[in-house]
Amino acid sequence: MSNPNEAELIHKFKGVLFTTRSSPELLKSLDTFDAREDDVLLVSYPKSGTHWLAGVITKLYNTQITLTSPIEFGDISKLEELNKLSSKRIIPTHLDYNMLPPNFKNKKCKMIYISRNPKDTAVSMYHYYRDNPNLPTVDTWTAFFDLFLKGDVVCGSWFDHFLSWEEHKNDKNILFLFYEDMKKDLPKIVKEISLFLDLNVSDNDIQDICKKSSFSEMKNDTEKENADPNHTVCALTSNRKLIFRKGAVGDWKNHFTPKQNRRFEEAFNEKMKLSKM
Ligand code: A3P
Repeated sequence: MSNPNEAELIHKFKGVLFTTRSSPELLKSLDTFDAREDDVLLVSYPKSGTHWLAGVITKLYNTQITLTSPIEFGDISKLEELNKLSSKRIIPTHLDYNMLPPNFKNKKCKMIYISRNPKDTAVSMYHYYRDNPNLPTVDTWTAFFDLFLKGDVVCGSWFDHFLSWEEHKNDKNILFLFYEDMKKDLPKIVKEISLFLDLNVSDNDIQDICKKSSFSEMKNDTEKENADPNHTVCALTSNRKLIFRKGAVGDWKNHFTPKQNRRFEEAFNEKMKLSKM
């Protein structure tokens, strides 16, 4: 990562890398954020299927809701803007559990955490870094692989992020989902989400939502909405083509060398010793 502009693009807060789109002032002030009991948080490590989940959730409601940009994106005026919203707020975040504004926890807001095989997440993030001018330059997959394993990428270590949330997976207000389960049986997961959110959605509507949330449908929508930054959850790009890349399970096999796979497995087994999942 030898981009001379790197300092303009990223900075560290509490040991975690953030893009400069998350201002230090905003990050410092998150602890004071005033959550509402009916806020719904959509939580993920980047590239785990955030936009997919957001697409599903926004289709489940037939009342007025606002899908905001991630709470940690923006400058100090962000919290004020969120305060002004009068409708129900669906708030994405890539923060790890410990950095989450405490008010969300105290008010027991509903939170949906989506996780994905970290090997596929790493590959997806590599492509995102490579194609997104708002992120530091990475020259090769090999270089990115090392950064990912060290947690030297935006939002920090995948392992730390997952473990911080996994500790709370049995909290009643938290629903844990996996990208791979959504790929396997989307209607089942959509049903689960609707029950968790106390929404009464018919089986017909669920089928319809799944159809509209398929990778090809969502990717096709990009043609219509490409220019509108409000149509990406990730405030780092308005280019939906960067988000809807391949949408597959197991793409890591096209990138990992056998040696990288062994190194990844070793790191995984070591770091995830504490995991119960
Ligand atoms: P790939 O880069 O592997 O294709 P996020 O929304 O958290 O940034 O995650 C982006 C990843 O989710 C990308 O993975 C993208 O293709 C995938 N994705 C987005 N919508 C999807 C859908 N409807 N079905 C399957 N995968 C989807």
